[in-house]
Amino acid sequence: MMIAPTLPAELKAALDGKLQGFSRTDAAQRSQKISNTYRSGGGSGTIKSEADALAYALARMPATYAAVAASLNALTEIVPDFAPETLLDVGAGPGTASWAAAEAFSSLQSFTLLDANGTLSRLALELAQDSARLGDCRYLPGDAGANLAEISPADIVIASYLIGELGEHDQRALTEMMWSKARHALVVIEPGTPAGYSRILALRQQLIAAGAFVAAPCPHEKPCPLTAPDWCHFSQRLPRSQAHRQIKGAEVPFEDERFIFIALTRTPPATRAARVLAPPDIGKAEITAKLCTEETLTITKVLRRDKTAYADARRWRWGDAVMAES
Ligand SMILES: C[S@@+](CC[C@H](N)C(=O)[O-])C[C@H]1O[C@@H](n2cnc3c(N)ncnc32)[C@H](O)[C@@H]1O
Repeated sequence: MMIAPTLPAELKAALDGKLQGFSRTDAAQRSQKISNTYRSGGGSGTIKSEADALAYALARMPATYAAVAASLNALTEIVPDFAPETLLDVGAGPGTASWAAAEAFSSLQSFTLLDANGTLSRLALELAQDSARLGDCRYLPGDAGANLAEISPADIVIASYLIGELGEHDQRALTEMMWSKARHALVVIEPGTPAGYSRILALRQQLIAAGAFVAAPCPHEKPCPLTAPDWCHFSQRLPRSQAHRQIKGAEVPFEDERFIFIALTRTPPATRAARVLAPPDIGKAEITAKLCTEETLTITKVLRRDKTAYADARRWRWGDAVMAES
């Protein structure tokens, strides 16, 4: 099912409940410190107290949720009959990807969250405890790689904003482990930066060599046709709550989360769709769009006089899948 980029009402209510009486100034300072550590490559190690975990969730959960939602939407668009029953949420943090997957796949019955950070995991469990879907989720503390080695595969494995926290060697090892535990699909989401893209590219190459197929965003398993300094990423707009505006000192009532993802499957997807790689340029006489197609990377021009094609192309947005018949 295609899902909205906004936190489900149940999760929002649980988060709002936790935030009652939580000082916005304190949250702003904590989230600033957390994002500074992220920017300098320190990962989530600075999240130590319950207040840190809450500040992180308040500052980042809506945006990472929106990126996971968009990634799962892209997967279900290409593989509409995919109905996973079991999920492994690797590096689950506050449980973001599990919530998005619960929305995207009504078939999901079992949720396993793996995370080394006890504070974030406690928050994940508290947020989920009253949920009919996630209330019984299982949490495995400690290193995700070591835990994965011990457990049965799941229909879908998701790692959202995780692999950037690992060194290159650990990324490769965890990638192999996650794939070995993905019965049908593996979805990995990263920040939409050149570094995030290059991590996804390396993972893509590694797993295609291991027999994986790409359901999204790429319409093929060939080498990525982009050349540096160009890089592939997408942008998801989401509403910014008043609390979020306060802690970020932001004016506008929305934020745009830049992200990159890959959805890999064990069987070749029945459909292939070209991907819109940038906001199309709508000119008077024509629409110009950067498309990654099954064959190549193209700058497509659709002339206004081709009425039907032009009307279709007017609806293209950055990140959209363009099916062959349109
Ligand atoms: C940036 S957070 C992302 C959380 C969540 N997936 C999201 O998208 O909101 C990264 C998470 O990965 C966890 N993590 C990093 N390395 C890990 C490892 N080796 N084993 C388990 N968890 C790990 C951190 O504790 C943190 O909770």
